[in-house]
Amino acid sequence: MSGILLLGGTGQVGFELQRQLCLSGEVHAPSRQELDLTDAAAVDTWLHRFQPGLIVNAAAYTAVDKAESEPHLAHRLNAELPAQLAAYTQSRNQWLVHYSSDYVYSGDAKHGDETRPWQETSPAGPLSVYGKTKLEGDQAIQDSGCQHLIFRTSWVYSARGHNFMNTMLRLGREREALGMVSDQIGAPTPARLIALVTLQALTHQIEGGIYHLAPRGETSWHGFACEIFRQAHVLGEPLTITPGQVSAISSVQYPTPATRPLNSRLALEKLERALGVRLPSWQEQLALILTERLSTQ
Ligand SMILES: NC(=O)c1ccc[n+]([C@@H]2O[C@H](COP(=O)([O-])OP(=O)(O)OC[C@H]3O[C@@H](n4cnc5c(N)ncnc54)[C@H](OP(=O)(O)O)[C@@H]3O)[C@@H](O)[C@H]2O)c1
Repeated sequence: MSGILLLGGTGQVGFELQRQLCLSGEVHAPSRQELDLTDAAAVDTWLHRFQPGLIVNAAAYTAVDKAESEPHLAHRLNAELPAQLAAYTQSRNQWLVHYSSDYVYSGDAKHGDETRPWQETSPAGPLSVYGKTKLEGDQAIQDSGCQHLIFRTSWVYSARGHNFMNTMLRLGREREALGMVSDQIGAPTPARLIALVTLQALTHQIEGGIYHLAPRGETSWHGFACEIFRQAHVLGEPLTITPGQVSAISSVQYPTPATRPLNSRLALEKLERALGVRLPSWQEQLALILTERLSTQ
């Protein structure tokens, strides 16, 4: 076989990738039942039996808080698996597409200006097990010398599955008040945008390396929640809450096992230049995904 091996095809990004990558070639997306990615020997067997021409790795250990108590599992999925895939693609001179996270950055003021977006060349400084293991995965791919595209993205959501937007829609039907964190700043990114950009990048054969991938603009979790409720009201969704009933709280008031960066802003110019596009705003993207979500329930 020389098709595309897609790992994590049941996840938010993987589900959307299945729909886009079929335009590039035959996609093989083994489920967890067919290929348990914690089993390194099984991954090797699968690679050698199917000999994919391109590997797209959307699989990851993404439970950011749980990773603090399951570091070995997070390390296997986020660090060792990418290293294994990179060694395979390097030995065959093939491409590896991989996804990484804003959580590889420290998000604090160490680089001089806490409101400045991170560049792809900015020093990393992960604050959590998840962030550390994602960074190890990125570094293993770079160190392997394989041809690669690593897309670092942020705050992923989609019309289906468990994510912030869907949680807000549920809470918005149950609650009349909510407190949301307002001091973590980033850009909510639809899984579909990630899949579309991946296809564009492969089609245009952009230069290998690390690229930030998110919509334009910035907000906080509080701002994202308010915009979800505002747009849902406009679309006629019967909610018990309005944006005015969402109060802003600080990260300190909402302690979690894993520390999140306050600054998750990602500079997008490198990707925009490579593709010759201007990325859409996060609000425009939310309108698309929210409309789809509310029309299919
Ligand atoms: N979610 C975010 O907010 C976010 C933010 C920044 C970057 N990213 C990165 O973006 C990429 C895609 O994230 P996502 O949100 O699409 O992730 P997701 O929805 O959590 O999906 C993870 C995928 O990995 C698979 N997987 C996990 N452990 C496995 C195992 N042992 N064997 C086989 N499959 C396994 C899952 O399979 P099952 O369906 O069987 O569990 C699922 O298909 C990841 O690299 C992530 O680090 C995500």
